[in-house]
This record gives sequence, structure tokens and C-alpha cells, in this order.
Amino acid sequence: MGYEDVYRAWQADPETFWMDAAKAIDWVEMPSRALDDSNAPLYEWFTDGKVNACYNALDRHVENGRAGQVAVIYDSPITGTKAKFTYAEMRDKVALFAGALAARGVTKGDRVIIYMPMVPEALVAMLACARIGAVHSVVFGGFAANELAVRIDDATPKAIIAASCGLEPGRVVDYKPLLDGAIELARHKPEFCVILQREQKPAALIEGRDVAWDAAQEGVAPADCVPVEGSHPAYILYTSGTTGAPKGVVRPTGGHLVALNWTMKNVYNVDPGDVFWAASDVGWVVGHSYICYGPLIHGNTTIVFEGKPVGTPDAGTFWRVISEHNVRSFFTAPTAFRAIKRDDPKGELIKDYDISCLNILYLAGERADPDTIHWAQRTLGVPVIDHWWQTEIGYPAVCNPVGIELLPVKVGSPSVALPGFDIRVLDEAGKEMPRGELGAIVIKLPLPPGTLPTLWNAEARFRKSYLTTFPGYYETGDAGMIDEDGYLYIMARTDDVINVAGHRLSTGAMEEVLASHEDVAECAVIGVGDELKGQLPLGFLCLNRGCNRPHDEIVKEVIKLVRDKIGPVAAFKLAVVVDRLPKTRSGKILRGTMVKIADGQDYKMPATIDDPAILDEIRLALQPLGYAKG
Ligand code: COA
Ligand code: AMP
Repeated sequence: MGYEDVYRAWQADPETFWMDAAKAIDWVEMPSRALDDSNAPLYEWFTDGKVNACYNALDRHVENGRAGQVAVIYDSPITGTKAKFTYAEMRDKVALFAGALAARGVTKGDRVIIYMPMVPEALVAMLACARIGAVHSVVFGGFAANELAVRIDDATPKAIIAASCGLEPGRVVDYKPLLDGAIELARHKPEFCVILQREQKPAALIEGRDVAWDAAQEGVAPADCVPVEGSHPAYILYTSGTTGAPKGVVRPTGGHLVALNWTMKNVYNVDPGDVFWAASDVGWVVGHSYICYGPLIHGNTTIVFEGKPVGTPDAGTFWRVISEHNVRSFFTAPTAFRAIKRDDPKGELIKDYDISCLNILYLAGERADPDTIHWAQRTLGVPVIDHWWQTEIGYPAVCNPVGIELLPVKVGSPSVALPGFDIRVLDEAGKEMPRGELGAIVIKLPLPPGTLPTLWNAEARFRKSYLTTFPGYYETGDAGMIDEDGYLYIMARTDDVINVAGHRLSTGAMEEVLASHEDVAECAVIGVGDELKGQLPLGFLCLNRGCNRPHDEIVKEVIKLVRDKIGPVAAFKLAVVVDRLPKTRSGKILRGTMVKIADGQDYKMPATIDDPAILDEIRLALQPLGYAKG
């Protein structure tokens, strides 16, 4: 069957489509039906099934002939370490660690925060939670203590599992003081913390609260898999929204297993036994779906890579990993390729490696610019597939369905809607736009299995953020168009979210931090174009009347404040002081116009602008930073 047939089969009978896909999962009790629409417009899937995610990721493969197959490869150019773990070894490690959590009272439904770098123990911790029905919430290591504290208060974890440190090129990131600081800041206190002591920088433990990773497992019995309902949350993953409070995306277990398993062949075109590599981080959705769960559920070998595309040690690292570990499908963010291209424009380093094992490169997480796609195609000599999805969705919604049929690639488009997704482009009034015209990208409800059913502790926010603007549809927050052939083009976000090096960040959250500086009366943060990272945040500061401190001092202080409050991942390094911000007569800051000025693009003078002269002031303030040149 070709793509059209598969898509039509889903459209004609989604229930049968997903019940068929569900047969590839080992259920303790097979669900009697796929969709539960009893609470529409909130939907759930496979609610009356019983299942365990860890069993599907590990045990079933051990029982079905893959015990000796490598499940996880750890490759850390940053520490010079490599290790391989078979499915049997992973199952045993996970069962024992799950036993350690259970022995300390963690049971089904309890939340566990995981704050770890790219080490195999991060996967062990995630799968151990899944084994006993605990709900994990992984927090990316590049966030500061304050962000961790916000997540602790929202998820109210019984336990936190962390490493003593992470490693960035040229610097050790002390996780433990960040963790201690976060627990101190948070109102909620975990009952205990398990700390993985890394030899690069072991941490001091707090007696009575902290226990070392190894010590926690001494004398405990391995835990069995606990069956959970299909709709039981597998995890919560916080992502940036419009405000400083992150959104806790809930991932339901049953749908997550079914959908991820379906994508491994139909999207990523790998068969069980093949090596699949997603060069991302466990702190992001890509890490959840395609470093941890997806490949393991499907019986693939996955790679935990602790390094960067460049500088660990050079721009040939990706090629070494692909060649050494026989990677068949590879997934990363365009920014990683831009970094490699910058260091090795002619792709000389690839000549040192035989990467003939590689069939396809997948890019996602941000716009894939044509230059980068062409460079990757030329350098790797394989199809380069751009695909589109979001943390909320959990897996690709729009993609060239390579495992079903390789459709013609149109550079600039992530291609077509996958089964499960009825994607439309609407105008502000909710009317469908003609083909080729720009509008809000929405998905007709219900969303398919594995997508978010709600936000943790925030059902009203879920309805307001996603379901209210366009009744009957899920609002993606992206704007774009669909062409005559049904190919989608993503043009921009419709909210205050920006995308920096493939990382999703909230300008609203940064504005909250800037506003907390004692000299700042008013501020705005926008995303400006950047050749390497796609976008970079840039802050405008209006100072309190009477403040005559040097502007560069205040700029330095706010940059430090964002790093301390949100974390280095925000990459907030640009700020200017201005007298006033451009606003509409009703007081709304004209951020869109400021972005256009900064990027040197043409813009229309907003009809509602309060005072057009301010735009010239903005241009002049930006020019010393190298922006607003057009
Ligand atoms: N723990 C602690 N700090 C971290 C971190 C982590 N896990 N990840 C990043 N940081 C820090 C970096 O060290 C950097 O700090 P600095 O300001 O002191 O230099 C800062 O956060 C910004 O990081 P980043 O935006 O990643 O920039 P970079 O200059 O370190 O690297 C790239 C640039 C392009 C190499 C890098 O962004 C990259 O590999 N991107 C791929 C993105 C990706 O995989 N996205 C996932 C979605 S698919
Ligand atoms: P995240 O939730 O971090 O995965 O970020 C999701 C957002 O990243 C989307 O809403 C888009 O704005 C952007 N994005 C993801 N993939 C793509 C892509 N292939 N092309 C353009 N933008 C993308």
C-alpha cells in the first residue's frame, strides 16, 4: 500500500487503524476499543487496556530472542567512554533500580523527577519509573535551579534522581548544587534523592535525604512490571509556553507505545535489530520518544551520545558515530548541521569514515533552511527528510512517510500529514484558507494516540491554550500553508515561543526575569535571526526614571540574571537599553515589527502604532549589535 492508501484507510476507519497498530504492543489486557470520546473535546485512547511500557521496551525482547542484542550504546567523546548494554543487561539494570525506588516507597502514580545528562543511567531511571508505574519528569540539564524548582512544585515528586554533574565542552556543570538550590527554593520537598556519582565530579550527599545510585540498589529485590491503564501518564514533560510557567505535557502510556512503535518502521524505516540514532538529549521530547522509548519498544539499538556536533573533538564526530555503530537512520536538529557546516564547509572530515550504512537523515525541531538541507544531501549522499512535530504531539505529525513510500522531497516543506493527523490552515475567524495561503495550522480533533490528553494540573490552561481559539481543532501555535499537493510549509510561531538551536524557549519567561531587575521599568524580548542557532533572544530594556547607571553594566546584569534564573540554554546574550518601546494605541508592544526591523526585513507601518518615530529609535539601538541592517 502506498501513502495515499494508508492515509485513506486511517481516515475511513481510525478505530480499526489504531486497533490494528495496537496489536504490535504486548498488552496485559488488550483494550476493547481505541478511542474514548466520552469526555470530548478531551479524548483518551486505549483506556481500558492494561500495559507496561518497560515490559514492551525491554522484557518482551529478552523473552522473544533479543536478549543478547545490544539495546543501548553509550558513546561519550566528552569523557572518552564507550559501552554497550544488551536487552538482557538493560532489563536487569532497570529491574534492580526499579526495585530500589520501590523499596523506598515509590509506587504507581508517584512522580519522579530525573535531572541527568546523557548517560545510560538516565534511560535506566526513566524505564525503572515506567516499570513500577511511576510518572517520570525529565528536566533538561541546561536549566537553572529556579526552573527545576518550578517543575518540582508542579510535579510534586516523591523522589528526584540526578547525577553529580554534567559535562559541557571545557566545563563541568555541577548538577548537585543546582539540585540542592532548587529543592531549597521549592515549596514541595521530595522524600529522597538518588545521586549518580560521576568520577569527573562526585558530589557531597545530604544525609537522610540523598542516597548514592549504587548504595540505593544494595540488597534490594528487582521489581516486576506493574500493569497500568492505557491512559495512565507515562511521563510529564515541561515545555515552554507563553508565560514563565512551563506547560506540563502529559503523555499517556498506551497511545505512546502504539504510536511510537508505528513510527519506527513507517516514518524512520528501521526494522527491529537496526541501529537508530537520535542525537538529542533526554531532556527534550526527541530524547523521550527516539532515544529512549521508540527504538527500544521496536527492538532497535539506540545510542546515548554525550557530546556535541562540533568540538568533541571535531566536526567529524557524527560521522565517526554513524560509521562505528552502523547507524541506519539518523535524526538531529538542523542547527547541528549548521554547526558542522560552519566548521567543515567542504565536508572534508566525512572522507575519513565509511558511512555507507546510513540510509536517511531526519531533521526536526526548527525550520530546516534549504542551504543546510542541500549541504547535508551533498555531503552525506542520502535523502534528507525534514519533519514536523511538537512536544505536545510526541512524534511526527507531518513527514515524508519513508517507510511506506518515499514521496518526492520538496525542500522547505516537511511534506505531508501522517495518518492520525487531519491538518488544516485556518484564518482568524476559523475559516479554512485556500491552498497556498497563510494561516494558523490546526489539527482536527481528536488528536491521535500518544498525543497530550491534557496538561498536568492545568486542564483549564490546556483548553485555553489549545482548544478554544478554533473549536473542534487543536491549535498548534504555528502558522503556515498547505500547497496544491498537500505539502505543509511552516512559516512562524503565532505566540511568544522562539526556537534557539532547536530548543523551544519562551520570550515571556525571559521578560519576567528582565522585569525583576531593579532598574528595569519595562522590557520586551524578541527572537532575532541567527545563522547558527536559527533564532537568538534579544532583550529591550526601558530603565526606571532617574536611573543613571551605565547601560552596559545593567545589560551585563540582566544577561547574568537570565542565565541564573532560566539557565545557559536560554542563550540570552543580547540586550539594549531604549527610551521607549513601540506600542499600539491600546498599549500592546509591537514585537512582530521589532523582529522585522532587527532582521532587516521590510515591514508595514502598523496602523495602530502610537508613535511611528519610536521605530527609528529601535533601529538605531540595534545597529551597534549588528542587527537592523537592511
Ligand atoms: N547542561 C548544561 N548546560 C548546557 C546543556 C546541558 N545539558 N546543554 C547546553 N548547555 C549550555 C551550553 O554549554 C551553552 O553554554 P554557554 O553559554 O556557556 O556556552 C548554552 O547552554 C547554550 O547551549 P546551545 O544553545 O546548545 O549552544 P552551544 O554553543 O553549546 O552549541 C550547537 C551549539 C549547535 C552545537 C548545539 O546547540 C547543538 O548541538 N544543537 C543541537 C540541538 C538539539 O539537539 N536539539 C534537540 C531538538 S532535536
Ligand atoms: P518542540 O516542542 O520543542 O519540539 O518545538 C515544537 C516547535 O518547533 C513547533 O511548534 C515548530 O514551531 C518548531 N518546529 C518543529 N519542527 C519543525 C520543522 N520541521 N520545521 C519548522 N519548525 C519546526
